[in-house]
Amino acid sequence: MLEKLTQLREEIKKALENATPEAIEALRVKMLGKKGEITAVLKGLGKLDAETRKAAGAAANELRDWAQTQIEQAKSAAGADQLEQSLANEHIDITLPGKRRGVGRVHPITQMYDKLEQLFLSLGFDIVEGPHVETVYHNFDALNTPPHHPSRDRTDTFYFGEDFLLRCHTSPMQVRIMETQQPPIRVVVPGKVYRNDEIDATHTPVFHQMEGLVIDKNVNMGDLRGIMELIAQHVFGNGVAIRLRPSFFPFTEPSAEVDVACYICNGKTKTEPCRVCKDSGWVELWGCGMVHPEVLRKSGIDPDVYSGYAFGLGVDRLTSALYSITDPRLYFENDVQFLRQF
Ligand code: DAH
Repeated sequence: MLEKLTQLREEIKKALENATPEAIEALRVKMLGKKGEITAVLKGLGKLDAETRKAAGAAANELRDWAQTQIEQAKSAAGADQLEQSLANEHIDITLPGKRRGVGRVHPITQMYDKLEQLFLSLGFDIVEGPHVETVYHNFDALNTPPHHPSRDRTDTFYFGEDFLLRCHTSPMQVRIMETQQPPIRVVVPGKVYRNDEIDATHTPVFHQMEGLVIDKNVNMGDLRGIMELIAQHVFGNGVAIRLRPSFFPFTEPSAEVDVACYICNGKTKTEPCRVCKDSGWVELWGCGMVHPEVLRKSGIDPDVYSGYAFGLGVDRLTSALYSITDPRLYFENDVQFLRQF
């Protein structure tokens, strides 16, 4: 019996020399597992007579404890060996660039809004936003737009039933502001607007406007022109020329288009045809006018006491003009290669 234990001890010692973690585990099963050899010896103790059992039992238990410790130690040593080996063999190229998380950009449309808001805040304007789902009354009727006007058609504007729609311009906020506030009023309204247009190189069904409204005593068209010039110069740089060209909007009288001197050819280079201004030297950028007395009256402001002007900036168009962007779809695709340029 004792001989057998000595033999097992020798076998374990030998087996543990330079053993792999797998070999060590196999040895543990072979010796200490349910059907292991040491386990078998321990199980056999019961068959021995009392005297022999005492000595053999102590020796067998001692061997089991020793084997357990040896195997545990060998296991952790082999594990450390393996780690060391793989560290030595696997090369990590620390000069390879890591995965970068790109920093985003402020969208060019948002940049244009920021730029405009900065100007209007410095001029003492308030900035307010309005509902995108509007009443037909605020979007059209209160703005003097008659029932037969083409923009009221269902093919031009997104309706919800008879009385509501997605606003097709920010002008309805003129009415909402005048309904709730007496002059002096000096306000701009940034926001998205919606039209039932097919997407092409000049149309997107969603685009961006900034409405302006100034109402006070003795406001005249000279004031309007001065502010229109300030806007153009703030966006395109000092010295840029503008002109007001007579136009028509139902809610202003008189109405005008603001044209800016062509930022490509400046109206001067006649050697090559200019595709932006079509050789006219001017680019049409936004609409404006003196608020129609009927609009003032409908909104609860006395046109005999007050007058004012309004304007509707096309923010996409201003951005395109500033950066010579020829396709407004780019604003909605959000391709980082495009956005990174601004
Ligand atoms: N609402 C007009 C549009 O979307 C733009 C506009 C023109 C707004 C003249 C105004 C204005 O306030 O006075 O086409």
